[in-house]
Amino acid sequence: MTDLSQLEADLSAQIAAAGDLSALEAVRVAALGKTGSVSALLKTLGAMSPDERKERGPQINGLRDRATALIAERKAALEAAALDAQLAAERLDLTLPAPPRRKGGVHPTMQVMDEMVAIFAEMGFSVAEGPDIEDDFHNFTALNFPPKHPAREMHDTFFFHPGEDGERKLLRTHTSPVQVRTMQRTNTPPPAPWIAGGQEPPIRVIVPGRTYRKDSDQTHTPMFHQVEGLVIDKGVHMGHLKWTLETFIARFFETDSVVTRFRPHHFPFTEPSAEMDVGCDRSGGELRIGQGSDWLEILGCGMVHPNVLRACGVDPDVYQGFAFGMGVDRLAMLKYGMPDLRDLFAGDGRWLSHYGFSAFADPNPASGLS
Ligand code: PHE
Repeated sequence: MTDLSQLEADLSAQIAAAGDLSALEAVRVAALGKTGSVSALLKTLGAMSPDERKERGPQINGLRDRATALIAERKAALEAAALDAQLAAERLDLTLPAPPRRKGGVHPTMQVMDEMVAIFAEMGFSVAEGPDIEDDFHNFTALNFPPKHPAREMHDTFFFHPGEDGERKLLRTHTSPVQVRTMQRTNTPPPAPWIAGGQEPPIRVIVPGRTYRKDSDQTHTPMFHQVEGLVIDKGVHMGHLKWTLETFIARFFETDSVVTRFRPHHFPFTEPSAEMDVGCDRSGGELRIGQGSDWLEILGCGMVHPNVLRACGVDPDVYQGFAFGMGVDRLAMLKYGMPDLRDLFAGDGRWLSHYGFSAFADPNPASGLS
């Protein structure tokens, strides 16, 4: 009969002597594997008499359990030692240069929008916003568009299918509806959640946002960005408008010598209305703002039409105001020398990494191209 205590002593010695995981595994297989020494003993139990089995069974099973536990313990110790050795041997060289990573950047349109907001914020304007999906009232009617105005035609404006009430919503064609949303003091139609009830004058807001028209060529895209401005107060006149815009242009183009020209124009929501041009020089294929004898059209503006004030619940005999609207993408092209407006929306990574801005730069107009 096998001497169990001798076998156990041998096994313990072999387990303790196993110097690595594979040596330990060999010990385990030799004892507990299918044909191992302990497994062979377990197999003899079947042939024993019940009395003998009663005595030997617990002894052999106990041996198997203790051997299993010893192996597990040794395994854990060997693994811990292997990890310690690996940690001691491996080193990370933190001085190696990191592999180049693709960096995200700020889109030039957003950069320019931030620059514009920063300049107007310093002049005391706050930011107002409105929905891209507008209704006829805010986009046209309240802005004094006559019922048959061409902008209301299908070929200029993206209309949605009529809703259950027959009303056709549309993608706003300009940011001017936010003038209405800002001023509106009546509750019909209900004020939008983002503007609680409308604002008492004085009002000084700018409205950066997306706008949509059915247009596509080198200088037009179906979606583009505008910044709208609105000032409503007592005694506001065109001199204030002119000063505000000239101050803005000088800061935006980083020049002291801005020359502007106001050309009479027509917008249904302003009277008088004007387009503002900025003096520039195009000689040598490069555009320089603030010098030369050429003119560059920059924006539309005017004094808010009394009908608009009335539609928004503001008394035109008490308050006057001016408004302006300009294309952000166009100003971005002019300032940073991008030749085709459509590139701004093509989503080409190479173009974006060339013209994009660092996300950590201050939206300060003086920071220029990064
Ligand atoms: N909404 C006009 C446009 O999109 C611009 C504008 C705004 C003109 C405010 C006058 C006053 O062309």
